[in-house]
Amino acid sequence: MKLTQSDFQKRRDQLAAEIGLRSIAIIATREEMFRNRDADYKYRADSSFFYLTGFAEPEAVAVIETFDTEEEGYTYSLFCRERNREMEIWTGYRAGIDGAVDDYDADEAYAIDLLDEEIIAKLQGKERLFYRIGQQASFDAKITKWIAEASGESRRGTAAPTQLIQLDTILDEMRLHKEPKEIELMQIASDISAQAHTQAMKSVRPGMMEYALEAELNYIFGKNGCVPSYNSIVGGGENACILHYVENNKQLNDGDLVLIDAACEYEFYASDITRTFPVNGKFNPEQKALYNIVLDAQIAAIDAVRIGNSYKEPHYVAVRILVQGLLNLGIMQGDLDEIIETEAYRQFYMHGTGHWLGMDVHDVGAYKVDGEWRTYQEGMVVTIEPGLYIAPDDETVDPKWRGIGIRIEDDIVVTQDGPRNLTAKVVKTIEDIEALMAS
Ligand code: GLY
Ligand code: MN
Ligand code: MN
Repeated sequence: MKLTQSDFQKRRDQLAAEIGLRSIAIIATREEMFRNRDADYKYRADSSFFYLTGFAEPEAVAVIETFDTEEEGYTYSLFCRERNREMEIWTGYRAGIDGAVDDYDADEAYAIDLLDEEIIAKLQGKERLFYRIGQQASFDAKITKWIAEASGESRRGTAAPTQLIQLDTILDEMRLHKEPKEIELMQIASDISAQAHTQAMKSVRPGMMEYALEAELNYIFGKNGCVPSYNSIVGGGENACILHYVENNKQLNDGDLVLIDAACEYEFYASDITRTFPVNGKFNPEQKALYNIVLDAQIAAIDAVRIGNSYKEPHYVAVRILVQGLLNLGIMQGDLDEIIETEAYRQFYMHGTGHWLGMDVHDVGAYKVDGEWRTYQEGMVVTIEPGLYIAPDDETVDPKWRGIGIRIEDDIVVTQDGPRNLTAKVVKTIEDIEALMAS
């Protein structure tokens, strides 16, 4: 399954309608990035640029222009690299100017080298310039220069834009509300990621290195044509208490848990899964007790992802269950409401319960509207990822609990029928994990 040009065109139609008449929107893709010396990172187009164009090459800029009347519609121009036989031998195929028109439905296509020149003409007669302010310093500087140049030209009688408007406000809102096809792509990414976690549970052995387990995940991602949607976390034992642990270079020990937060993106759509399981296939009593608290919190939090609920509701639900669990085990003492009120629980649960998910793992979309947490609407996708982390050197707790870190994370779509879990295919109850690992 792939998005087609008609999907991208509908998005451009919507954007053109949102910017109104006598407006211009300029959207640049990401720059290429070097890893070291002249070895570069594999290129990944900017999500919002791809969202509107389906164009994955570097050095490209899309321009949407509207005119004096609605009848004139809008023009979509794509500035991109020209075909170049010699360069294509080194770095691969380019769509070129003809491809931009024929395959990417541009009304007008230009060599990227002509951007400076052409954009000044396009700015003439426009009142508003919509631009993704603050995404790339080098492009911010170009915009400023173009506005100045276009204003200079305006002495000859044509107007230049007098309003510079943050385009991301519109694009982020569009991307926050997923179309059915986007959910389908996220389901594919989720299925592949679920398969990778299942493979990790089956293949882990005491003594294995964390990176060897990471390789099991990467094999599943790669052979399905995917790349990780973020750096994989494979943390054995107390490494699970380091929230952004990505070294993945220690040995996995018999008796420890391993926390894997890893997932892939498929056709530009991400998934995000965490599972925590025993290296030797059997949870010990302390691991079991803490795990079941996190699992209860996660299941209840997922159930709170319902149309009309506040974005924060799953967090409040999760925190209450986590704190009650810690009180029951004697890891915390005191009054439930007071611990929640003072946020004393942050000693063991110091991150939020989720984030928007989409083309980016930490996807775009405002969390608050007019100062209030926004409410869930159909087509939003959120992760639900509560955890508990008992620091290895935390002397306030009995040593038997120290160094245990647990997180469980699934990807949830808001639907009319309630929460839909995209990542349910990877097991998460103790019973199911132990059965899978024993098989
Ligand atoms: N994997 C990043 C996150 O869970 O937020
Ligand atoms: Mn996440
Ligand atoms: Mn994650």
